[in-house]
Amino acid sequence: MFNQIQLPYAYDALEPHIDALTMETHYSKHHAAYTKNLNDAAQKAGVADKEITFLLSSLDNISDEALRKAIRNNGGGFYNHNLYFSTMSPDGGGQPVGLLKDELEKSFGSFPDFQNQLSGLAAGQFGSGWGWLSTNRDGKLILSASANQDNPLMEGNGFVPILGIDVWEHAYYLKYKNLRADYIKAFFNVIDWKAVASNYESVMKG
Ligand SMILES: [Fe+2]
Repeated sequence: MFNQIQLPYAYDALEPHIDALTMETHYSKHHAAYTKNLNDAAQKAGVADKEITFLLSSLDNISDEALRKAIRNNGGGFYNHNLYFSTMSPDGGGQPVGLLKDELEKSFGSFPDFQNQLSGLAAGQFGSGWGWLSTNRDGKLILSASANQDNPLMEGNGFVPILGIDVWEHAYYLKYKNLRADYIKAFFNVIDWKAVASNYESVMKG
């Protein structure tokens, strides 16, 4: 049984950056539907007891094509949104400290350079998808973008996402309409860098 994380803040807590109606719809409708559909498909495929990270890294093991597709789309939606909602906070924004800050600067030049590169990838993703910051067990950081509910776990190269920007229209259209770049800029005001740093350290500890 796969469960949505409990939101550690109210729907209106991320105002004015992310509006309450978007948060409520995103969590209680979109994310809830991905989670229900994942549970249904995983049950049918006999993989309901697996870890979601394992499932998404080994989709080829699911022989039934329709179930594999359902688990890719809805399992991705389940996992991606658990990550997304858990790395936002009303006390977010600013910059990380410590090891993650050092590694971001080493990898991308400076924090603003990192922000520009990730924002560019997310803004440039054609259609629905995500922009990602990922790491591997050696602590190497990379940026990428993916379509639909795909994520770096599915690429099978040992990289695990530690921060994701949802650029599906459902994440921003009510407030930002077609201005995806404005939403991405606002998203940086609610990033919980402590949560991202904790994800970073978890992947490195294996
Ligand atoms: Fe979403």
